[in-house]
Amino acid sequence: MIEVQRLTKTYPGGVQAVKDISFDVAPGEVFGLLGPNGAGKSTTVGMLTTTIAPTSGRARLAGFDVATQPLEARRASSVVFQDAVVDRALSGRRNLDIHARLWGRGRERIGEVAGAVGLSELLDRPVASYSGGQRRRLEIARALVSQPKVLFLDEPTVGLDPRIRHELLDVLADLRAQEETTILLTTHHLDEAERLCDRVGIIHRGEIVALDTPGALLARLGREIVELRVEGDPAGALAALRAHGVAGEDAFAVGSRLTVPLHEHSAAEALAAMGAVPTAAVATRRPTLDDVYLRLTGDALAEAA
Ligand SMILES: Nc1ncnc2c1ncn2[C@@H]1O[C@H](COP(=O)(O)OP(=O)(O)OP(=O)(O)O)[C@@H](O)[C@H]1O
Ligand SMILES: [Mg+2]
Repeated sequence: MIEVQRLTKTYPGGVQAVKDISFDVAPGEVFGLLGPNGAGKSTTVGMLTTTIAPTSGRARLAGFDVATQPLEARRASSVVFQDAVVDRALSGRRNLDIHARLWGRGRERIGEVAGAVGLSELLDRPVASYSGGQRRRLEIARALVSQPKVLFLDEPTVGLDPRIRHELLDVLADLRAQEETTILLTTHHLDEAERLCDRVGIIHRGEIVALDTPGALLARLGREIVELRVEGDPAGALAALRAHGVAGEDAFAVGSRLTVPLHEHSAAEALAAMGAVPTAAVATRRPTLDDVYLRLTGDALAEAA
């Protein structure tokens, strides 16, 4: 449903925002594009939704080339932008109505999409009176009016409190079950990606550095991780653990924190070897997508978000 081949964007002035990325998304799949600020997520979504012209490479939506068949590609897709587009002065219903007319859809579609995102009760209130989460849901309803084959969501949960964020994730999970929509979403939140996405692409400085199912990405780090806070030189401590054979190539340091996937070692063996390293705190836990991400990008997601 989405085919991306060697897509590249260099902005005027020379910023290489997206460098030669390729991936495919199957019909009905939910694909997550994950990366820190400035990684190239919005630029990628912009190229796929025909608002940004690629410098080179190709992308097709439902078989339509975004560069040579932009109208057809646009007709097959919808997008929820990082920044809001609904008109706050109008009611939710009026916003959806304008959009439905634009797409030649009947009024009944408005009721359907409002129901799907749980906004039926609020439709006749001005959007200015909606909470952040409700406004986000209206944005999604707007994007669904046209019954897109492909839905793009650029950071749909940014700026929402945790409760509303989880509500919205439920809405997206329901959508996935109800409508046969292919979804590409971008996020900083790995838990979102884990919960919603069939596959995840991690994008870092314009390049896709990993692409797999959340489960497979996690499995790469084994079943258990030792995390330690070192006093002094983290690079030296990492080298010492590697010399003892406890830390492999996939161990990494962020600030004073070392993360060591154990693989075939037991935690006890690891701790014994760590006697050589002055540590302030040690903990063992299961790997998370955060670890996968940190290892690949060296950026802390919490800082990026
Ligand atoms: N119109 C533009 N002109 C020049 N450079 C741009 C333009 N838009 C984006 N960039 C640069 O391209 C890079 C990628 O930006 P992009 O908006 O795609 O990142 P992002 O992954 O969506 O980040 P965020 O998480 O902050 O939304 C950044 O370095 C950004 O400064
Ligand atoms: Mg962005």
